[in-house]
Amino acid sequence: MRTVLITGANRGIGLAHTRRFLARDVRVFATARLPSEAGDLEALGRAHPDRLTILRFDARDPQGPAGLKQALGDQPIDLLLNNAGLGDRHGFGAIDATTFMDVMAVNTLAPLLVAQALAENVAASSRRLIANQSSQLGSIADASGGAYAYRASKAALNMITKALATDLRARGVTVLALHPGWVRTRMGGANAPVDVDACVAGQQAIFDGAGPADSGKFFNYDGKPIPW
Ligand SMILES: NC(=O)c1ccc[n+]([C@@H]2O[C@H](COP(=O)([O-])OP(=O)(O)OC[C@H]3O[C@@H](n4cnc5c(N)ncnc54)[C@H](OP(=O)(O)O)[C@@H]3O)[C@@H](O)[C@H]2O)c1
Repeated sequence: MRTVLITGANRGIGLAHTRRFLARDVRVFATARLPSEAGDLEALGRAHPDRLTILRFDARDPQGPAGLKQALGDQPIDLLLNNAGLGDRHGFGAIDATTFMDVMAVNTLAPLLVAQALAENVAASSRRLIANQSSQLGSIADASGGAYAYRASKAALNMITKALATDLRARGVTVLALHPGWVRTRMGGANAPVDVDACVAGQQAIFDGAGPADSGKFFNYDGKPIPW
């Protein structure tokens, strides 16, 4: 793995992936919605000025993916990690249209548009991986209720993962859906059982081993497959 791009890298799982990839000598393009407030990323940038580039990316901005493409040019990207995401716990009886569409824009449409904008960069690399940070809550087989917008956004992201796996197979690109576990981040909360470093160690082991035979599959952070 030489070069990765990670969205939503200013905190949580994205920041931990950035830190771990930098420790592994990987070149990282890390996106933040508000780079001026991304203090942890800035500190990493001072420690690794030649290997960390911080790019502005707001998943609500329809021009965001084009901005990333413009910044990257023809730079090969071994792994595109669509990680940025928005939580939402509204249950039945409390669904609000504006919130629902916002969650879909950030969790579903943005990863697709980023993959569309950067597919050639990924195809030009040696590892040729796209990973979409999904959630077990998007699994249809996980039949529990609640969190409608979040569940729908991740279920739709899973379908996008399958469709991309088919459409990009001829270009040698492997596309994965991931469940990071229930992780102690701002989204996961303090009571989540999975430590963020354990999550990213497991996910990076998946990236290291993934190949075309894995394309269109959905993996827990420990490498076990998750039913759709
Ligand atoms: N933690 C868990 O238990 C868990 C479980 C299943 C799936 N996931 C998924 O894992 C991913 C990372 O979650 P996390 O736990 O690290 O959450 P987090 O700590 O809340 O971090 C979320 C990240 O997404 C970014 N983001 C949110 N809205 C954005 C937007 N409009 N444009 C660009 N970036 C935006 C945030 O940036 P700002 O700081 O600028 O808001 C932040 O960098 C998400 O896709 C989430 O759905 C997490």
